[in-house]
Amino acid sequence: MTVVSLNQVYKVYRSGAIEFEALKGVSLDIRKGEMVALMGPSGSGKTTLMQVIGLLDRPSQGNYVLAGQDVTTLSENQRAEVRNQEIGFVFQAFHLLPRLNVLENVEVPLTYAGFTPQEKRERAAEVLTKVGLGDKLRNLPSQLSGGQKQRVAVARALTMRPSILLADEPTGNLDSRTAAEVMRLFQELNDEGTCVIVVTHEAEIAEYTGRIVRIRDGQIESDGPNLQRKRPARGFA
Ligand SMILES: Nc1ncnc2c1ncn2[C@@H]1O[C@H](COP(=O)(O)OP(=O)(O)OP(=O)(O)O)[C@@H](O)[C@H]1O
Ligand SMILES: [Mg+2]
Repeated sequence: MTVVSLNQVYKVYRSGAIEFEALKGVSLDIRKGEMVALMGPSGSGKTTLMQVIGLLDRPSQGNYVLAGQDVTTLSENQRAEVRNQEIGFVFQAFHLLPRLNVLENVEVPLTYAGFTPQEKRERAAEVLTKVGLGDKLRNLPSQLSGGQKQRVAVARALTMRPSILLADEPTGNLDSRTAAEVMRLFQELNDEGTCVIVVTHEAEIAEYTGRIVRIRDGQIESDGPNLQRKRPARGFA
């Protein structure tokens, strides 16, 4: 099954009289179960492409079919609903809420989706246990290491059981050992059927994925399987 299908997608940014074409005819199909690295130089359009895939932004031209549904022309509200159901986001800077503890941070998407307090607590605790943070539920983000913060962000992205996990430079603020742990976690989620798309500058990070898409100046430059997919042996420290 094809989860993401972009067909000749263009994205033009306008600021005043100035236009900038950040995506220039991107066509990309990603199937269920794939784990993909999106690579390319700074300014090449990686974040823009992730925002289109994640329904945070819409193409200026071209079309997008997500999990069999044409999402190109949905209203803002419809897009927000599909986004909440289908997409989980992880960012380089974690974006945790500093005054909420770990459990409460992970409950946030469930609150938007209207879960009861009891359901929220159960589901958030379950997913935090899954990422190895079952003993940190009451910690504040400031009381966690960088890798632990990123695992909270991953847990938060997973609470709604998305079909796609989008991660934009998720290991950019982590040392290489912690980065490997996060990639291993992504691999586990991918093995369980979640489609994972990771933006990265680093070849070592891309090695954990099964497919590498390179973008340059808003166009796909190359796209192919990664035949030496790396699998870290270690679990969480
Ligand atoms: N809101 C915006 N308005 C105008 N131009 C933008 C906007 N957002 C991005 N751009 C331009 O679009 C191009 C692609 O930006 P994008 O953020 O997608 O790059 P990137 O590949 O993610 O880069 P990096 O690796 O530095 O994160 C850049 O030239 C950028 O300046
Ligand atoms: Mg970027």
